Amino acid sequence: MKALTLAVPKGRLFDAVSAYLAEKGLSVRFENRQLSAVDASGRLEIYQVKNKDLPTYVHHGIAGLGIVGDDTIAESGLSFVQVATLPLGATRLCLAAPKGTALPMGRSAAVATSYVRQTRQWFHQRGIPVKIIRLAGSVELAPALGLADYIIDLVETGSTLAANGLEIITTMKDIKVRLIANPAYFKLNYGAIEELAHTLGYL
Ligand code: PRP
Repeated sequence: MKALTLAVPKGRLFDAVSAYLAEKGLSVRFENRQLSAVDASGRLEIYQVKNKDLPTYVHHGIAGLGIVGDDTIAESGLSFVQVATLPLGATRLCLAAPKGTALPMGRSAAVATSYVRQTRQWFHQRGIPVKIIRLAGSVELAPALGLADYIIDLVETGSTLAANGLEIITTMKDIKVRLIANPAYFKLNYGAIEELAHTLGYL
């Protein structure tokens, strides 16, 4: 049987995803910094890709399946089949600012973020003018250094915000980690994907 192709994100989700797959009998070892490997059962060919690139790989069908957060799916603007929600990596996308700062009303807010699409949507839906400053990471530094008044970023424990004198103004959305599929790949490999979902405990 041909292995299903699955993209998993490097970075903070990687260890949790690897442990989760291993727990379900799909353990995988990447030797010598290789970025692709087949799991011990031979059912999955797994590619380690940068989180923000993962939707691109699945969209083009290079990986038929992917494990990724709602934040990254929404930012990509692409459509996928949502096969399952994983019991790991839940977090929140939040608007935050230095302690005591109010929600910007009727004035232009300068917001540092790597979530440009979702930031634009959120402010436009509320009719609040916004100047978005795109950063790749460490956005919690921006208010202290005077680059922006607000940030929009993921908050998990809240310790990064607290350590940088910031607090949540509002939670924009809850973020969950999903198993997604390329729509054409899902149709062509429905039986094998159904079996995988069964192995993962979803059916
Ligand atoms: C993420 C996120 C926050 C932090 C939140 O960063 O961007 O900075 O984790 O976690 P906490 O609420 O538990 O402190 P990550 O470490 O993934 O690196 P990044 O700066 O590259 O996004």
